[in-house]
Amino acid sequence: MASSDRTIVLITGGNSGIGFETVAALLKASANYHVIMAARSIEKAQKAVDEIKSLHGDALKGEVSLVRIDVTDIESVRAARQDVKSRFGRVDVLINNAGIIVTRECDTLTNLRETFETNAFGPAIVTEIFEPLLKKSSRPKIIYVSSGQGSMTLKLDPANPHRLLRGDFYRMSKSALNMLATSHRVHFAEWGCRVTAFDPGFCVSNLTGPEGRKMRIKNGARDPAEPARELVRIIEGKRDADWDKCGMMDVDGGISPW
Ligand SMILES: NC(=O)c1ccc[n+]([C@@H]2O[C@H](COP(=O)([O-])OP(=O)(O)OC[C@H]3O[C@@H](n4cnc5c(N)ncnc54)[C@H](OP(=O)(O)O)[C@@H]3O)[C@@H](O)[C@H]2O)c1
Repeated sequence: MASSDRTIVLITGGNSGIGFETVAALLKASANYHVIMAARSIEKAQKAVDEIKSLHGDALKGEVSLVRIDVTDIESVRAARQDVKSRFGRVDVLINNAGIIVTRECDTLTNLRETFETNAFGPAIVTEIFEPLLKKSSRPKIIYVSSGQGSMTLKLDPANPHRLLRGDFYRMSKSALNMLATSHRVHFAEWGCRVTAFDPGFCVSNLTGPEGRKMRIKNGARDPAEPARELVRIIEGKRDADWDKCGMMDVDGGISPW
């Protein structure tokens, strides 16, 4: 397939959880996708791709490439842009998915800095550095994987069973990410780029480590394949009416409030 006919999707944190499932879902969806899986090391990315191939085998139609991106390491992002530019010349869809919850014991300032560096500063830096390659696309899109935890409306809603969960620093970082998405939505419209934040729901993943993973399963968290399928629907244009709505596109086909 000619490079101009393919949809080139770059996803950060593509080796685990929601990112991993999204890579698999895109590769299964169509031969039209060339997915660039970004991970903190090429070894991690290769291991994840091997796992996707062993899980899905012949069902995979699209192509996948690997790139190293640590969103807190600006040099790694610049090097990745050079690499992607020389191999593909453009990016059609950027999914800023990498994120953390700091679970180890540490002082407040360390926790805040680490959380914001990855969840808010990282996506801002990745988008800024990849903006020239998105501008080469005829249909550029940016999706910020956010969280209902970042919603002020839900935090204040007495009917929300999760409102008493603390996680203040993670919540703050995702609220900041929502503003980044909002700001980019307004300003990137000038060059035809569509921007949204996405709420994947409560999922089984490695976000809170091995114990957290068990807790998630015990508490009925979703299969991360669910948000992955919804991200594919968004990219495929099935939710085009939602890009300009006020809030985050959510995993169930609705809109989560800011
Ligand atoms: N799971 C949920 O319930 C849930 C709910 C709402 C929102 N989210 C959001 O969904 C996104 C994906 O999380 P997940 O649940 O799939 O968790 P996950 O399984 O822990 O995946 C997170 C991914 O981000 C990567 N990452 C972390 N720090 C990074 C950095 N500095 N540079 C580049 N990559 C980095 C991780 O890489 P390593 O493998 O190297 O650590 C991993 O690939 C996050 O933004 C998270 O906040 C998750």
